[in-house]
Amino acid sequence: MTEKRLCTSTGSSARTGGFETPVAYRVLEALGEHRATEVPAPDIAAALSCNPDDVRRAVGAMRRLGYSVSDCHGAGIRLVTETDVIVRSHLVEGLGTRALGRLPVCFLELDSTNAVATRSALAGAAHGTVVLAEHQKAGRGRLGRNWFSPPGVGLWFSLILRYELTAARSWMLTLGAAVALADAVEASTGIRPDVRWPNDLYLNDRKLAGILTELRGVDRVDFAVLGIGINVNQDEDDFPVGLQNTATSLRCVTGRAFDRTALLAEALRALEAVFASLDADRIRERWKGKARMLGKPVCIMTGAGPVRGVAEDVGTDGALLVRGVDGVVRRVLAGDVGGGTLI
Ligand code: BTN
Repeated sequence: MTEKRLCTSTGSSARTGGFETPVAYRVLEALGEHRATEVPAPDIAAALSCNPDDVRRAVGAMRRLGYSVSDCHGAGIRLVTETDVIVRSHLVEGLGTRALGRLPVCFLELDSTNAVATRSALAGAAHGTVVLAEHQKAGRGRLGRNWFSPPGVGLWFSLILRYELTAARSWMLTLGAAVALADAVEASTGIRPDVRWPNDLYLNDRKLAGILTELRGVDRVDFAVLGIGINVNQDEDDFPVGLQNTATSLRCVTGRAFDRTALLAEALRALEAVFASLDADRIRERWKGKARMLGKPVCIMTGAGPVRGVAEDVGTDGALLVRGVDGVVRRVLAGDVGGGTLI
């Protein structure tokens, strides 16, 4: 069994800011690729150039996350859980993007992919690097909220973006990402999510996906970390009680499980296509075409208190334009509610 057959290495550590996919994830990839047979730990270790104890530790970590891994009287180990495994080489092979997603760094478990992507960007990681985790222990949402990120059922990833962009135009990343993700979900599943200002995707009035854009830079954006969470294969009772009436997944809506590698690839292609021109008018128009909230009553929580009225439009600066009962149109800026948070 060769390393190439098990898992092709797809990124150079220098281009990802010194961050590499740890052995625990590489063992998961190996087991994901050899589901039908028991593979002895020493064979996996040899193929991955690591120690059999590393393989055993990785299996322990997988089990702690709830994966069922059989170990048949020393004959070998096998991934029993049916969860699909995102194998980097498979992702990159069929991707077809120029930059986005071509350097994947994947973790079994970490605190937040946005936090790791920020560290790797500060260490020089290239534009397009993607940091992905099976499980986030402290997934970050907007406004200091947590993002529920259980293992094996969602897409939790962050992209490092190094576009020539002023901070004032960075709203395009969040609104553009919402458009791209809606396109990707539609292309992969046939269902059309609704975008909600500034950063959410909804299906049947429940949240399917969220975007957390974090920026480094003052006037110009040095880099952006675009964090994306998509609920893919959760059942309804996989969500904590507090989220069961507000969150949904593609599986909850369709009754089917989806291949996360294919959806991730579709999302990366769609993101690259939308960001190809970073054309503000085009992003606004495309976003408005997917936003059912326009023309409807809204209540937007901002630092200065709630803004109530009818959502009329998105301004040329990415602000949501809300007409109050007094007839006055108020601009709610993306920055007010976390469309682009300075890190
Ligand atoms: C929101 O709707 O509040 C934004 C949620 C963003 C969640 C994603 S999951 C991957 C990335 N890493 C994080 O810690 N958060 C984002």
